[in-house]
Amino acid sequence: MTYEKIVVTGGAGLLGSHVVKEMATHAQITTLDIKEPEVVSQGSQNHLNVSITNYEEIKKAFTGHDAVIHLAAIPNPREADAKTTFNNNVQGAWTVLQAAEDTGIKRVIVASSDSVFGLSYNPPDWPPQFLPVDETHPIRPTEVYSLSKKITETISESFAARGNMEVLAIRPCHIIFPRGYSELEARGEDLENYHFWAWVDPKDVAQAFRLAVHTSDYNGFDIYTVAAAKGLNTKPTLELAAARWKKMPVIRRPEIYSSCATASILDTSKIRERLGFIPEVSLEELLLKAKSQKY
Ligand SMILES: NC(=O)c1ccc[n+]([C@@H]2O[C@H](COP(=O)([O-])OP(=O)(O)OC[C@H]3O[C@@H](n4cnc5c(N)ncnc54)[C@H](O)[C@@H]3O)[C@@H](O)[C@H]2O)c1
Repeated sequence: MTYEKIVVTGGAGLLGSHVVKEMATHAQITTLDIKEPEVVSQGSQNHLNVSITNYEEIKKAFTGHDAVIHLAAIPNPREADAKTTFNNNVQGAWTVLQAAEDTGIKRVIVASSDSVFGLSYNPPDWPPQFLPVDETHPIRPTEVYSLSKKITETISESFAARGNMEVLAIRPCHIIFPRGYSELEARGEDLENYHFWAWVDPKDVAQAFRLAVHTSDYNGFDIYTVAAAKGLNTKPTLELAAARWKKMPVIRRPEIYSSCATASILDTSKIRERLGFIPEVSLEELLLKAKSQKY
């Protein structure tokens, strides 16, 4: 099945503009957000000023569309208090999925986050249980944002199990937008980097959403981690892991680190193998982009 009329919630956000650009050559896009997009990047883009917590308005917005990309959320634990973040992200996710089901939407792709593993933002007593971390890694979110993303995945899985629509979740790691370019060096050298040096370019996250919209290889509900192949770190990943975690995690795929010493702590084999994901923005390209930008 091809999806031609797609709603992007959170379409006015930082990632949203990349996703809209990536999708607009393939589909007619409606963005939905509580703020206006800074740039309406494509002529066909229609924008609706609606909150994801407003079921009736969301239902109206979804009518006549066939797929939804759900990005709208408070995107970290620092932007709002816990109650606001939980209500917005969890109530919002349920409302989006319920309205999607009620309006006959066939596929929803939700933005989760690698924070569900519980490695970032959470208490430091939960190092990776093995490296590289993949979708089979145990999860232990303890702060509100990662918890809200875990519950979003649970809600998604529940809706997919009802059999009326397919739901796929993308777990991007730390997305580096131009505003973060000035910190790249410091982050790469920081032993305590709270994203464990993992990063991804928004263009590649947008690619992951496009692939998830178009894939025919799905299983009712599925989760895909998205990251760049190399971390921001300049020292070998396993050397940093040993220094940071004292007790070294089990290295499940040593070949990844023997072929690239600074390979990411996140394993993206699943999305590469199942959806054909190939990151376009390498670390070298990111550093060049950062260098050429005046900040
Ligand atoms: N930025 C990252 O590093 C990162 C990493 C992993 C996952 N994510 C996820 O990707 C998605 C997009 O993140 P982003 O970095 O573009 O953040 P962003 O804040 O730039 O975009 C989120 C958008 O959602 C909108 N929004 C929030 N609450 C809403 C509501 N109630 N109704 C309608 N719109 C609402 C905001 O106005 C904003 O435009 C989020 O779900 C975030 O959790 C982001």
